[in-house]
Amino acid sequence: MVLLALLILVAAMADMRNARAEYGDVVINNYSDAAGMRPAVFPHWFHRIRFRCKVCHADLGFKFKAGGNDINMVKIIDGQYCGACHNGNIAWSIENCNLCHSGKPGTPTQVHESTINSLVAPANSGAAPTNTGAAAKPQSVQKK
Ligand code: HEC
Ligand code: HEC
Ligand code: HEC
Repeated sequence: MVLLALLILVAAMADMRNARAEYGDVVINNYSDAAGMRPAVFPHWFHRIRFRCKVCHADLGFKFKAGGNDINMVKIIDGQYCGACHNGNIAWSIENCNLCHSGKPGTPTQVHESTINSLVAPANSGAAPTNTGAAAKPQSVQKK
């Protein structure tokens, strides 16, 4: 049982590392596809456990709407939006194109399987913030 729980946790963590669109992630694709870049993926949970809502939604001015901020690279390089932190100081800087532009080409702007309510952590979420995929995993883990 402990082993199974560990396997599930490891599987959930492996999912997080891949930075694909997951539960609660915001895919931003107003311009990326058209510019030949993969859509940007913003892992909301990953950031929320590190910063208060206010930091982004008040101080940095992010509107509460997926794709609603008209973000582009000129603004980011100018230190706005993602660029307020991804500047090599608070977080790694913008040369790491693929860490942000990690979405599947053609994925429209969206919050992955999210409503405002599902942004609230499930009661049993434990340490792994984006582990909602774990509920679906026990079966495949058990087969091995
Ligand atoms: C910290 C995250 C982040 C990094 C790193 C990043 N981008 Fe972006 N980029 C974004 C976001 C968010 C958008 C807006 C996406 C949209 O609406 O399609 C964007 C938009 C773009 C666009 C379309 C809009 C425009 O400004 O022309 C291009 C092209 C682009 N990025 C290229 C790059 C390249 C090349 C790099 C690496 C040198 C890079 N990006 C690194 C987050 C990032
Ligand atoms: C590190 C920055 C950051 C933090 C911290 C943060 N958010 Fe966000 N949030 C964003 C970004 C970026 C978006 C997407 C905006 C876009 O696509 O232009 C977003 C989108 C949203 C949305 C809109 C989702 C939709 O359905 O369109 C809601 C609601 C939201 N955040 C709530 C919160 C709450 C509540 C907190 C605190 C518990 C929080 N955010 C903390 C950056 C942040
Ligand atoms: C308030 C500061 C802040 C803002 C704003 C912010 N980030 Fe981040 N971001 C961070 C920090 C801190 C990390 C962790 C860096 C590290 O591990 O070295 C991070 C990590 C990430 C990661 C990697 C997640 C992982 O699984 O390792 C991605 C992808 C990312 N940010 C994308 C974005 C995008 C896209 C935006 C804009 C829409 C954005 N961030 C805005 C602070 C921020």
